[in-house]
Amino acid sequence: MEAGGECFPKQRQVLILFLLLGEALAGWESRRYSVMEETESGSFVANLAKDLGLGVGELAARGARVVSEDNEPGLQLDLQTGELVLSEKLDREEMCGSTDPCVMHFQVLLKNPLGVFRGELLVRDINDHSPEFPEREMTLKILETSPPGTVFALKKAQDLDVGNNNIQNYSISPNAHFRVSTRTRGDGRKYPELVLVKELDREEQAELKVTLTALDGGSPPRSGAAQVRILVLDVNDNAPEFVQTLYQVQVPENSPVGMLVVKVSARDLDTGTNGEISYSYFYSSQEISTTFELNNFSGEVRLIKKLDFETISSYELEMEASDGGGLSGRCSVSIEVVDVNDNFPELTISSLTSPIPENSPETEVALFRVRDRDSGDNGKMTCCIQDDLPFLLKPSEENFYTLVTNGALDRESQAEYNITITVSDLGTPRLQTQHTITVTVSDVNDNAPAFSQTTYTLRVRENNSPALHIGTVSATDRDAGANAQVTYSLLPPRDPQLPLASLVSINADNGQLFALRSLDYEALQAFEVRVGAADRGSPALSSQALVRVLVLDDNDNAPFVLYPLQNGSAPCTELVPRAAEAGYLVTKVVAVDGDSGQNAWLSFQLLKATEPGLFGVWAHNGEVRTARLLSERDAVRHRLLVLVKDNGEPPLSASVTLHVLLVDGFSQPYLPLPDVAAAEARADPLTVYLVIALASVSSLFLCSALAFVAVRLCRRSGAASGGGCAVPEGHFPGHLVDVSGAGTLSQSYQYEVCLTGGSGTSEFKFLKPIFPNIVSQDLGRKSEGNPTFQSNFPE
Ligand SMILES: *[C@@H]1O[C@H](CO)[C@@H](O)[C@H](O)[C@H]1NC(C)=O
Ligand SMILES: *[C@@H]1O[C@H](CO)[C@@H](O)[C@H](O)[C@H]1NC(C)=O
Ligand SMILES: *[C@@H]1O[C@H](CO)[C@@H](O)[C@H](O)[C@H]1NC(C)=O
Ligand SMILES: *[C@@H]1O[C@H](CO)[C@@H](O)[C@H](O)[C@H]1NC(C)=O
Repeated sequence: MEAGGECFPKQRQVLILFLLLGEALAGWESRRYSVMEETESGSFVANLAKDLGLGVGELAARGARVVSEDNEPGLQLDLQTGELVLSEKLDREEMCGSTDPCVMHFQVLLKNPLGVFRGELLVRDINDHSPEFPEREMTLKILETSPPGTVFALKKAQDLDVGNNNIQNYSISPNAHFRVSTRTRGDGRKYPELVLVKELDREEQAELKVTLTALDGGSPPRSGAAQVRILVLDVNDNAPEFVQTLYQVQVPENSPVGMLVVKVSARDLDTGTNGEISYSYFYSSQEISTTFELNNFSGEVRLIKKLDFETISSYELEMEASDGGGLSGRCSVSIEVVDVNDNFPELTISSLTSPIPENSPETEVALFRVRDRDSGDNGKMTCCIQDDLPFLLKPSEENFYTLVTNGALDRESQAEYNITITVSDLGTPRLQTQHTITVTVSDVNDNAPAFSQTTYTLRVRENNSPALHIGTVSATDRDAGANAQVTYSLLPPRDPQLPLASLVSINADNGQLFALRSLDYEALQAFEVRVGAADRGSPALSSQALVRVLVLDDNDNAPFVLYPLQNGSAPCTELVPRAAEAGYLVTKVVAVDGDSGQNAWLSFQLLKATEPGLFGVWAHNGEVRTARLLSERDAVRHRLLVLVKDNGEPPLSASVTLHVLLVDGFSQPYLPLPDVAAAEARADPLTVYLVIALASVSSLFLCSALAFVAVRLCRRSGAASGGGCAVPEGHFPGHLVDVSGAGTLSQSYQYEVCLTGGSGTSEFKFLKPIFPNIVSQDLGRKSEGNPTFQSNFPE
């Protein structure tokens, strides 16, 4: 082939030479033939022999051959038939490209003689190619703001065919925004243009795809298609827009710091920076910016500080969302703080009165105010104190309470109260506050001193030393302080005669009683003193008690013989008839003792007698009786010494001398007998005897009657008490007072003989001065004091 290639130019030069020659020689006209491209090889093109006017054998004889101009194969001459046929399929596009018409020149060379025949073969186009776009897909970027009518050039398609078989028309798939128009360039090529019919909105549709179809004019037409991808370019034509224009949130006030309160969210339909939203406060106060933190990227609002419903109960936030293009939108956020029962009730004491005086009627003690900073039920409160206290709570004005006493208080039963005021709210959970106030009760002098006993009985032995402490009274006062300081005093005696000031004194501070002077039982056996106790309150209260002082007897009085009288120069003489039988009552020694009790029990004893054995003295009653019958030998005069002794410790005694005269009868005049011897010498015996007899009989009668009564009495009382004829002790008439007594026995006597058993219904009471003749003068002088001597006659 290479060698052949090199040879062609020489051959061609030769051929051209021949042709020129042949033409000149033959002068055949050039002929034009046509054939459709893509016709099968061997297809008939022309009958050359006929066209040249040559016989069938002539062609072969003259060595006819076909030479194509560019030495292209394709045509073949059948020498036998003289027909020109296609030696191969012809492709117009390969042969001519876009050149139209596509003509192939060829010569038929003949020898003997030389001849050249020129021919042209027109290769006609068939629509064997489809339009074809250089890219299956095209991308077009269009601003969304492009106005309708804007034209966008598109790449054209190619079709290898020519003429009518080339592209005739462009079309696009149906769509809302675009149409396509087919334009023709100067060279006749058709190209498409995209025309915006309706404005675009990237936010609505950011990308469109249309199919661009190119159609040729063949029959049938062929087409080719490509995708046109239209990207709508964003323009910041949308402002950010919040999802909600108003966000309403409720946040419990005890929400922790950092909690998400609300997340606002805005949309911007634009893209890129045009759609990049950042959030900010449109309007913000100091309060808001210190309480909430806004994340400018996410729109989250978080707590950065504890909320307090009581301080601020709601927040209004104005939020703004801005995009990168400078557009912005707004919304408001309403944050409502929900109350939580987080505040304890508060209690403020406005005034407190303490101490409060006891005994006062309903008194206001305290005024206080309660407060709860929560709201609703969380802020409603109840207020109470302990049940068992004598206090009341009274609601006064709004949220004010007064604490008052519920009646009078008694300091003596409780002097201090701890009052716990409990305030609780009605929230859940309940919160409560307690406040304890201490109220003291001040003393009022409402209690008088009280003596430990209403009556004190003090015993003091007579003849005491002066200033002797004889006892103590005590009184207590339940009040406090000066109201309880007790001072003692002696009150004026009921009996104005009682020389109280000289008898006793009292220690004002401790109630000790002292006997001021030596007491004499015989003068004063008992006395009563009223003592008072007063406190130092204002006004002072006082009370009194009775102190009964009993003077105890001491045996300081010797028996005193009343009969017979001892001081006379002419002692009395008893006459005893010689005819008297044994046991004849001669006389009776009567004695008394100033003391009392044991100390006054007297016993009689015959101490000495002229003739012992003749007389006897009854130890208990002092009766002197004859012990035996008298005889003529007995002396006329007898002298008896009788000892009277009391039963005290030590005993005291007195003695008495009795003169007894034995007489033969009562005829002897005896009385008066200043001197026995003189009387004997002077008296008329008859008168004497008469008197003696009279006296004897009367004294005997008297004695007998006395004895009878006494015996009977003592038997009765003996049966009752088993003892002697005891006068009940402990009975102290209140008027036993001897004002002028100096401790010695008074000379006036009231001699009471107890004849009854001591009962109130005395059968018989014998009360009269005994020996009225003897003591009548004394009685007349000193009977005011009336000291009573009780004589006992134990059996
Ligand atoms: C091109 O095609 C469109 C629709 O396919 C048609 O309306 C129009 O007449 C055609 N233009 C030509 C020149 O054939
Ligand atoms: C958003 O907040 C961050 C950090 O808080 C800050 O760096 C940034 O500048 C803010 N952006 C805007 C747009 O305010
Ligand atoms: C009151 O409280 C005080 C202090 O707590 C206590 O000392 C006192 O005994 C209390 N008084 C009463 C009456 O409970
Ligand atoms: C003896 O005592 C009595 C009674 O006290 C009195 O009346 C009389 O005068 C006294 N006689 C003499 C002599 O003192």
